[in-house]
Amino acid sequence: MTDRKRLWITRRLSDATLERAARDYDVVINHDDTPGTASELIAASAKFDAIIPCHSEHFSAEVVSKLAPRLKIIANHSVGVDHCDLPALKARGITVTNTPDVLSDATAELAMLLMLGAARHAVAGDRTVRTGAWDFWSPSFMVGKQLTGARLGIVGMGRVGRAFAAKARGFDMEIHYYNRNPLSDAAAQGAVYHDTVESLLGVADFLSLHCPATPDTIDLMNSERFAMLPKGAVMVNAARGALVDEDALMAALDSGHLAAAGLDCFKVEPGGNPAFATRENIFMLPHIGSATTQTRDAMGFRALDNLDAFFDGRTPKDVL
Ligand code: DGY
Repeated sequence: MTDRKRLWITRRLSDATLERAARDYDVVINHDDTPGTASELIAASAKFDAIIPCHSEHFSAEVVSKLAPRLKIIANHSVGVDHCDLPALKARGITVTNTPDVLSDATAELAMLLMLGAARHAVAGDRTVRTGAWDFWSPSFMVGKQLTGARLGIVGMGRVGRAFAAKARGFDMEIHYYNRNPLSDAAAQGAVYHDTVESLLGVADFLSLHCPATPDTIDLMNSERFAMLPKGAVMVNAARGALVDEDALMAALDSGHLAAAGLDCFKVEPGGNPAFATRENIFMLPHIGSATTQTRDAMGFRALDNLDAFFDGRTPKDVL
């Protein structure tokens, strides 16, 4: 690169990422690590050629309409891009990239933790031991749901869905999936394709969501669809909170139709749904699916690779 482009990094990314960014760009880092507000994004667009945001910065149509022409690229530090109005950004000629692949394993690992934690009473069990309330044991105490041999339904067999299926095979689960298109036999590795979500739900003793949040998938899991799951099913969501109607989830748990849920994402983030805290059969984590040291470095480097390509006049690998 001939001249150093000005780059704004909205959040505290990994040290290795920030070092590389400072080496190659005239970079300003938000060391306060607070989410970029609409007015900050708009102000930054007049001062920077590029922004690396996270899913916490919202490029709504209104924000995009006010961006200054200096901003040429938004190189997201996330695979999900539901925080970006892509058509609006495209219309403004702003390039947008994301960070696929590199977080699939970390996210799939976390989804496995959610599935196991929800199935085996992790919340109640931990609380019982931790508070000194463990004064009783019985063969009928905290009996959970076994993964081995159970049917797992995966909605969305993209990179994360496939990584999750690979880990679930280690638990001898029978894998079923819904995807817009069936995978090749080599990619499916014996997983059974369902051409509708409804068909998948009927066999999903465990259900895990791995599709993006789009206008078509908002509230994908609603009352009607929860009712289609086998009684005693467990649902996992490590994708996006928008996929689940949270009132319908509570109702399905309260009726006993759904045995438990494991959630890493919520309609409102940060914060989550306070009503969920009253249910020990909801195992919750604060949107940390990709939060491993290795993956944070890989996400940061992938975002910088995309920026480097763009400013070198090449097409970034992950252009959307
Ligand atoms: C992603 O990459 O989309 C994760 O949710 C973290 O932002």
